[in-house]
Amino acid sequence: MRLQAVKGTYDILPEDQARWRDLRSRVATTLERAGVREITTPIFEYSEVFLKSVGESADLVVQKEMYTFEDRGGRNLPLRPEFTAGVLRAYMEHGMHTWRSPVKLGSMGPAFRAENVQRGRYRQFHQVNCELLGQASPLVDAEAIALMYTVLTGLGLEGMTVKLGSVGDPEDRARYNEYLRQELTPHESELSETSRTRLALNPMRILDAKDEGDQALIHELKRPLDLLGDEARQHFEEVQRYLTQWQVPYELDPSIVRGLDYYRRTAFEVHHQGIGAQSALGGGGRYDGLVESMGGPATPGIGWAFGIERVLDAIQQRGSRQSKRQGPRLFLVPLDDEAVAELAGLAQKLRTITSVEFAYARRNPGKGLKEADRAGARYAVMRGKSEREQERYTVKELDSGDQFEVSPTQLEALAQGLDEEQ
Ligand code: HAM
Repeated sequence: MRLQAVKGTYDILPEDQARWRDLRSRVATTLERAGVREITTPIFEYSEVFLKSVGESADLVVQKEMYTFEDRGGRNLPLRPEFTAGVLRAYMEHGMHTWRSPVKLGSMGPAFRAENVQRGRYRQFHQVNCELLGQASPLVDAEAIALMYTVLTGLGLEGMTVKLGSVGDPEDRARYNEYLRQELTPHESELSETSRTRLALNPMRILDAKDEGDQALIHELKRPLDLLGDEARQHFEEVQRYLTQWQVPYELDPSIVRGLDYYRRTAFEVHHQGIGAQSALGGGGRYDGLVESMGGPATPGIGWAFGIERVLDAIQQRGSRQSKRQGPRLFLVPLDDEAVAELAGLAQKLRTITSVEFAYARRNPGKGLKEADRAGARYAVMRGKSEREQERYTVKELDSGDQFEVSPTQLEALAQGLDEEQ
């Protein structure tokens, strides 16, 4: 057997690291400014942490998507399929309900789900996750959604759609599930296998069916939004009022149902058209009562997560004029012996600003440019006798072939600009 990465996992190669680093640092800055504090929880937890939170009818459990290993004590320990459960476990364990609320907790890292692998769906993937705990006000729902939108916009994404819905309070959900059972049980034999299982466990999830026959059957049926109770409806209207006031663009999605059981009231997803069938960049919702059901104090909360792979895919689709060149931003070419040590010294200085490499011996311009090109550099910077006399450098952009002269100060400014651009 040829050794290779496990199906659904992949390596993040050196040439991809800068994109990941850039994403992480931009996300961290935006979250920090919103008062979100970072928390790192273990990758594995006791299985109760997940079973008590994601719910017995969640896809993760029903479709056996959790990766679980048996430790030496014979305990079954799942690798986290998502962050919320572990973060809430830590919230309880460290008595964070006594902190000033909302307690805002952010995390980034890998998560694991044994899913069918396709574009945008992996078995080890990465999430940015954020939870706002301790406040039931619709103002916090709106803040959470606006924050997710700001984080994604801050990564340079455009053309996103925020889909907003409400799954109601538990009584509303029960009422809606009952309604679906009544409507669909007579047609049970016509439903797909997945939907038949859902009809027994959590009928609401049938709304998410991919099967065309299922969709035809539910097409005419009422949606969760049609059966909301008064309190959930009022809460939902207030969330919308804030989002409209803050100009966060959203569209109502009356049939939004999420793959995890713990949601109450507000549920939302952010989609992007450019990334194929798995168009959800991320999603989340309110989960009042979840901490309580895990054995903690009654705690309202709302949160979201997005998949880093899907977001990076969307960023790449945005068709920016980003250069494909993966090497250093600048490659310095000495055109005579005197310039060799000078440029090597300049490289060290410019490296405080951006990535710089240089040729270790005198080159003629043709050979120097070829070397810069092979290194994958964005710009070649040349220095010889005439440049020295005029206190200038000759710069060539290797993608476009544009050539121009710059002063030392302009070269620094160019390096600065190159470093800020991703
Ligand atoms: P989720 O919708 O299950 O929510 O996952 C959020 C995002 O993670 C998805 O929209 C997707 O971008 C990414 N994702 C999920 N599974 C995969 C996969 N197999 N491969 C690649 N990307 C994937 C949650 O996980 C909730 N814990 C969010 C939340 C936080 N709700 C409240 N707080």
